[in-house]
Amino acid sequence: MRKLHRFLGVTISVFIILHLINHILSVFSVEMHIQTMNTLRKIYRNPLVESVLILGILSQIFSGIKMIMLSKATKPSFFELTQKWSGIYMVFFFCVHLSAIFVGRYIFQIDTNFYFGVAGLNSFPQNLFFIPYYGLAIISFFAHVASVHHIKMKHHLFGLATALQSKLILSVGIIVSFLILYGSTNGFKGFKVPSEYNFKNLLK
Ligand code: HEM
Repeated sequence: MRKLHRFLGVTISVFIILHLINHILSVFSVEMHIQTMNTLRKIYRNPLVESVLILGILSQIFSGIKMIMLSKATKPSFFELTQKWSGIYMVFFFCVHLSAIFVGRYIFQIDTNFYFGVAGLNSFPQNLFFIPYYGLAIISFFAHVASVHHIKMKHHLFGLATALQSKLILSVGIIVSFLILYGSTNGFKGFKVPSEYNFKNLLK
C-alpha cells in the first residue's frame, strides 16, 4: 500500500505541478492562464488520462487514511506530524475541489475555467473561506512533499542538510501560494467575475 501511495503520489504530482504553474501565470495575465489551460486540457481532459487522475486521487485518499489509521508511531517527529496533517487537509480539499468541478461541469453545465475557480476568492464574505481553503491546499501539497523528502532522504544535497532542503521546499510552497492568490485576485484588488459565475446565478 505504501509503494502504491508513493507511485501514485509521484504521478498525481505531475498534474498538480502543471496545474499550479498554470495558476501562477495569472500573475501575468488571465489570457495567458486561459490559453495555457486550454493547451493542458488537451492532455488531462483526455478520458483515459482524466480517469487515471481521478481514480489515482481516490485511491490516494483511501490508502492515506488507511496508513494513518494503522500507524503506531507513539512519538511522531515534526515532519511525521506535518506529513499526516497536510495529508488530512488534502483529503478534505480534494473531496470539495473535485466535487465542485464535477458539479460545475455536469450539473451547472458551465465551463469550469479560471473564473469558476476564482469566483469565491473575489467576492465577500465567500473569500473568508476561499483564501485559507486554497492557500492551505497549496501549502499542504508542498508540506507533504517536504516531509516525505525529509523522512526518505538521508543525504546532503548541494551541501544542504535534509532538514534545510525540506524547509526550502516548504518556503517555495508559501511563495507559490502567495503568487497564486495574488494572480487570482488581480493583485488583491479583485476581479470582476462574469455574472454567470456568480454564486446566486449558479444556484438559480
Ligand atoms: C487557487 C488554487 C486553485 C484554483 C483556483 C483551482 C482551480 C481549478 C479549476 C478551475 C479546475 C477545473 C479545470 C478544468 O476545467 O479544466 C481545477 C481542476 C483540478 N484541480 Fe485545481 N485549483 C487550485 C488548486 C489546486 C490544488 C492545490 C490542487 C491539488 C493539490 C488541485 C487539484 C485539481 C485537480 C485534481 C483537478 C481536476 C482536473 C480534471 O480532471 O479535470 N487544484 N482546479
